Amino acid sequence: MLKEKIEEIRAQAEAAFKAAPSAKDLYDAKVQFLGKQGSFSSIMKEMGKLSAEEKPAFGKLVNEVKQALEAVYADRETALKGQELASQLQAEALDLSLPSATAAPGARHPVALVIEEISGILSRLGYSIRTGPLIESDRYNFEGLNFPPDHPARDMQDTFYIDKEHVLRTHTSPIQIRTMELERPPLRVVGVGPVFRADSDISHSPNFHQIEGLCVDRRVSMADLKGTISFFVREYFGKDLKTRFRPSFFPFTEPSAEVDCQCPICSGKGVIGSQDCRMCKASGWIEIGGSGLVHPNVLKLAGVQYPEWQGFAFGFGIERMAIIKYGIDDIRLFNENDVRFLRQFSL
Ligand code: DAH
Repeated sequence: MLKEKIEEIRAQAEAAFKAAPSAKDLYDAKVQFLGKQGSFSSIMKEMGKLSAEEKPAFGKLVNEVKQALEAVYADRETALKGQELASQLQAEALDLSLPSATAAPGARHPVALVIEEISGILSRLGYSIRTGPLIESDRYNFEGLNFPPDHPARDMQDTFYIDKEHVLRTHTSPIQIRTMELERPPLRVVGVGPVFRADSDISHSPNFHQIEGLCVDRRVSMADLKGTISFFVREYFGKDLKTRFRPSFFPFTEPSAEVDCQCPICSGKGVIGSQDCRMCKASGWIEIGGSGLVHPNVLKLAGVQYPEWQGFAFGFGIERMAIIKYGIDDIRLFNENDVRFLRQFSL
């Protein structure tokens, strides 16, 4: 009688376990049949009605059935967990074949690249970088550089005046004066940064960049200057180009020279195939900057003992150096931020 009841519960429990649609339903079924208040526990209470001889066989049966049901339960639990994991994986699946949104990595501006390249070359000759304020006093931008009071560069047409005493610096040469005032010779420094002039056309921009070198040492000659610039030209353009000096004038150097190098676009030939080279207008030479021996007045005004200490200096326009190297035809491109232009310089 009791035995049949057990078999009945067993059949019901087995059916309930196997049909349980979820882990939660399965657990509820387990509580219902095997739990403390479950069907099995109530049967066990009836065990007391049995005789002493019947009890062992009954106990054995109960244990067997319980074990069998635990096994069914465990199988179903494993199966349900597997199903649940599979459906979770499916629901959260990523489509790895989907093309990703394209990243837009930034790139260095050609002006920054050229500054880095030029200062890198000069640093191998022992030069280190200096900067200075963009708003300069007349003393640093002109007076300390030996500009006579009536020099045309002080004219309102070229110079942006802030007030009577201050200008947007028109060149990086004031950095030379600031360095000589603060540091003791020997000096090898590169002044670099933005400069400003009231001028705008295809080859002039009101804001552009300059880089210049200053060397102050005990015996300094035009030969040292020429050697330095010749080395620089070959390194910067990556070609064995010649450098030449043309006599010139700057208030802050004496003697002064305009620096030309062979045109890197046509390698100094003036022609590319049968076409005239447009960069050097078929001359084979191109102007890259100014240079000279630092004028004694400039040294003395900055507190450097002359002739014990002498100096040479040279200055280049950064945009111009980029234009010549890469064959760019309009200086305004540097400020337009057209990504089609800028992208050509990203590595
Ligand atoms: N400061 C000059 C300019 O802006 C360029 C220059 C010429 C710099 C000769 C120098 C130099 O250091 O020696 O036109």
